[in-house]
Amino acid sequence: MHDDFDCRANEFWNDFYTIHENRFFKDRHWLFTEFPELAPKCGLNQESHPEGSGKDGGLLGGLDQEQSRDAAALLHTDGDFPGSSATYRILEVGCGVGNTVFPILKTNNDAGLFVYCCDFSSTAVELVKSNPEYDPERCFAFVHDMSDEEASHPVPDGTLDVIVLIFVLSALHPDKMQASISRLARLLKPGGVMLLRDYGRYDMAQLRFKKGRCLSDNFYVRGDGTRVYFFTQDELHEMFAEAGLEKVQNLVDRRLQVNRGKQLTMYRVWIQCKYRKPLVQPPEAQG
Ligand SMILES: C[S@@+](CC[C@H](N)C(=O)[O-])C[C@H]1O[C@@H](n2cnc3c(N)ncnc32)[C@H](O)[C@@H]1O
Repeated sequence: MHDDFDCRANEFWNDFYTIHENRFFKDRHWLFTEFPELAPKCGLNQESHPEGSGKDGGLLGGLDQEQSRDAAALLHTDGDFPGSSATYRILEVGCGVGNTVFPILKTNNDAGLFVYCCDFSSTAVELVKSNPEYDPERCFAFVHDMSDEEASHPVPDGTLDVIVLIFVLSALHPDKMQASISRLARLLKPGGVMLLRDYGRYDMAQLRFKKGRCLSDNFYVRGDGTRVYFFTQDELHEMFAEAGLEKVQNLVDRRLQVNRGKQLTMYRVWIQCKYRKPLVQPPEAQG
């Protein structure tokens, strides 16, 4: 049965989105205060083109015409990809119905911005694409399972400025988390950041699970078949460090949440992390 939750994980999330459509997880007032990297002109790793224009960013200055053509051809051998001419690329993994993507598109009008978003629930991706705010000129939504190491991405390695993981890593089987983070880290440019917000250990949601719902240490299955893990800061730090990323932030956000409708007071524990890919890669990570 445990294997079933893993093999059919995307089906459980499809069912979830079929039932709830886009009525879920709306409250994102903290998005730009906690993650200014998503806001306009944050300056993080923005490419500038001081010498000449074009995708080479001035790299080809000083070469004669023929050399420039050859070098440009080499630079573009991967061919074009969605958002290839953008100067600031954000990918959200596990985007659900777009509670992060649409606020970014609305708030961040930087001309060089391109936003990618993926989810392994095809129902969620369809809901994103059918949203009137979905703009294929500035956004590319696709179905993708982040725990599938063989799955390809629509962008080459080393091309993303920001990867966002909001309450998605916790949905993976713990055995698949490290490889998934390491694979995503390869997509970041040097200096690019991975941003995470997720459930922390002993969050009220964890304490409210009944015994029979526990699949393994700190990993539970909800009544609808979706799963959730509750992290410590150290676990997340080790995972990002193993992926070759450096800590910028790793904090616990503890809050008292009052749900007046249900007359519930919940002690919430969330963890928020920012980890950066070093500008200079250690030799074993190169090539
Ligand atoms: C708790 S929801 C969060 C959705 C969204 N990030 C938000 O905050 O509104 C978890 C999301 O992760 C997606 N997900 C779970 N496992 C995934 C995987 N292996 N690959 C891609 N998406 C996954 C689910 O389909 C779901 O949309």
